[in-house]
Amino acid sequence: MALKASILLLLMARAASAHAGGVPDAAAVNRGLSPGMNYGAIFDAKPPEGWGWVAKEGDFKIIAAAGFRGLRLPVRWDAEAGLAAPYTIDPRFFARVDRMLDAALGAGLTVVLDFHNFDGLMADPEGQKARFLGIWDQLAHHYRGRPRRVLFEILNEPHDRLTPGLWNALLPRALAVIRRENPDRVVLVGTADWGGPAALDSLRLPAGDPNIILSFHDYSPFHFTHQGASWVGPQSQAWLGTRWTGSFKENEDLRGDFERVDAYARAHGVPVNLGEYGSNDAADEGSRVLWTAAMSHAARRFGFSYFYWEFKAGTMAVYDEKTGAWRSDLKNAILP
Ligand code: BGC
Repeated sequence: MALKASILLLLMARAASAHAGGVPDAAAVNRGLSPGMNYGAIFDAKPPEGWGWVAKEGDFKIIAAAGFRGLRLPVRWDAEAGLAAPYTIDPRFFARVDRMLDAALGAGLTVVLDFHNFDGLMADPEGQKARFLGIWDQLAHHYRGRPRRVLFEILNEPHDRLTPGLWNALLPRALAVIRRENPDRVVLVGTADWGGPAALDSLRLPAGDPNIILSFHDYSPFHFTHQGASWVGPQSQAWLGTRWTGSFKENEDLRGDFERVDAYARAHGVPVNLGEYGSNDAADEGSRVLWTAAMSHAARRFGFSYFYWEFKAGTMAVYDEKTGAWRSDLKNAILP
């Protein structure tokens, strides 16, 4: 009995210390992220906004009013940074991103600032390493005074020549750069091999940092979510017509991915974020709604925060900017 009481006291003291000074821990921050939305294919386009979708401050009110709490802002920072040291980020670009960040914070959203689509680093990790760290040095300095509702994500979907081994070596260096001026800002860390759960076994999370959230992306079954997706290549045409019916086997596969991530996260004591999931509009609407609902539900059941890919741009969009209307079946499949 005495033992039980002291364990209880210990747990209560721990919970209290996590909030000492009003600073919520990473798990508490993670709980406030969902449901979440990717503001994708805009600042991560080539060049930023180059795919024809323009960032608008009013979007964040629309997103928040629908019930979303977290917003991931993918940014192709390297496209606006100098090629030689000190790799200066164009101040006009900072100003454009900051206007949107302020609008999102003003709408009450918690924002993940994500370094997206750094193709040069994937092709030449050694050659671009100094530039990557130099850009992070500027980001960390520029955003150091921001509220804790601004989170950083070190790098979207490492792949190609940025192998799991090289990612494990680069990740703590980027985190150390961030920590110089942002000692307790929550930082999201993803997996190699395009951010999927398959690369978890090889991921070495920096030890001893209590403000890390593990992030993964899940687009499986890929032939379903990426059918007809031009950016994947011509082979995606052959996947057209693939359905997702919510069968026992399909649900079992989906759960398998989540269980694997959950086991890793428990072993490492980190909260989990599902940073991207979505399906191409070449898939039939019924399958998309079922799959999206199953993914969102699974994320809630496992206690993962979750961000749908994406808001208004591209072919996975859940909001139609032309008509000013949500694709409501899809939106309802995301929301609890
Ligand atoms: C990419 C997008 C793509 C999405 C789904 C994202 O990480 O940046 O361009 O549409 O994944 O494939």
